[in-house]
Amino acid sequence: MSISLSKLSAAIGDSPTLKINAKARALKAAGQPVIHLGGGEPTYPAPQAAVEAIIRKAQSRKIKYTPSSGTPEMKAAVLRYTQAHYGRTYEPANVIISAGAKQALFNFLLAAVDPGDEVIFPAPYWVSYPEMVRLAGGKPVVVRGEGRSLQVSAQAILQAVTPKTKAILLNSPCNPSGQIYGEDFIRQIVQFAEQNNIFLVMDDIYHQLVFDGKKTPNPCAFAKEGKNLVIINGVSKLYGLTGLRIGWAVSAHAPLIAAMGRMQAQSTSCNCDLSETAAAAALNGDQQVVADLCRILQENRDVLLKEAAQIPHIRVEKPAGTFYSFIDFSHYNADSSALAQYLLDKVLVAVVPGVSFGAEGYLRISFCADQTSIVEGMRRIRWALDKNAPKEIKIGDKLLTRD
Ligand SMILES: Cc1ncc(COP(=O)(O)O)c(C=O)c1O
Repeated sequence: MSISLSKLSAAIGDSPTLKINAKARALKAAGQPVIHLGGGEPTYPAPQAAVEAIIRKAQSRKIKYTPSSGTPEMKAAVLRYTQAHYGRTYEPANVIISAGAKQALFNFLLAAVDPGDEVIFPAPYWVSYPEMVRLAGGKPVVVRGEGRSLQVSAQAILQAVTPKTKAILLNSPCNPSGQIYGEDFIRQIVQFAEQNNIFLVMDDIYHQLVFDGKKTPNPCAFAKEGKNLVIINGVSKLYGLTGLRIGWAVSAHAPLIAAMGRMQAQSTSCNCDLSETAAAAALNGDQQVVADLCRILQENRDVLLKEAAQIPHIRVEKPAGTFYSFIDFSHYNADSSALAQYLLDKVLVAVVPGVSFGAEGYLRISFCADQTSIVEGMRRIRWALDKNAPKEIKIGDKLLTRD
């Protein structure tokens, strides 16, 4: 008889995005000409400042435990970032540095949520939100837009509030839709949450990755004291430094940050010394890298939109930020998992099924890959779905003919 595992572990699913990444990587390693449009990281090289800092730190031969909730240098860098982008001045006690925005969010949930507490977030949502809320013992409450809209109204969010609501969780621009919530929406939610003593967590991991001169509304502009406001961010998307695993949370609610610190101290102890040094250098370094990344991503988005326009019967909403498009392919197959599997099997293109983000019938297609891959991937998808596309396609050294 085998030893049983915990009920919690059985209740928590795999991350579908990590799963698809692993599958695409395995196919590529086996020599298959896979086009990976399922990823969640820019291919942009690491900023020079971060690279130099990591080398200097390694050469010092002092790679030690760091202060549990973050080094003074990294906290100072985050506080400067917060002042510059949100216009609020906080103290070191208001910030915690974690192993990615993901751990910052998880620390928040562990510190704030009691069993049965509800955490509201709109669909489509980042795949990890429901499982993370459940891991913390909470109940995910998903709010959906009208019809097939990728945005929900503030009213719909507020209507979902009950006496058990502990937090509202927003991600704007949004993974997977690339949509930005407008100023009115943010104002209403910020004010309601503050007046009703509900935490408002802004997952701002993509807040600077916006296009066409757009800006994400600043939630602090609508908060009075902002004690219930928690801002989460990190270096993963902003600088393409996903491998450092450094993120943070900032809140005027110092006891919340202290409680999050206790969760961290008793789980991971502290962050990686090399990573935290490099992340501080990225934040303190030349910010032209962010502008450059935005420009590249906007160009990539436009290439993807141009290719998508060749595929009939799909519905595309222009992403205003992030590096994801969330496209309605329900005309071809309403079962997005089956469609994603079909595309991987048939034309070796990896995309993520919409059902993982709480929206069936969609595929999340990333545009953080290089433009050649985007064009090739979209060309293969068209061939696989559109009966009017050219009959033949060359994939690697194989010539395929549609029957
Ligand atoms: C919406 C959202 N929040 C948080 C994260 C986690 O970021 P990090 O790499 O900093 O843990 C991601 C990563 O994909 C994300 O898309």
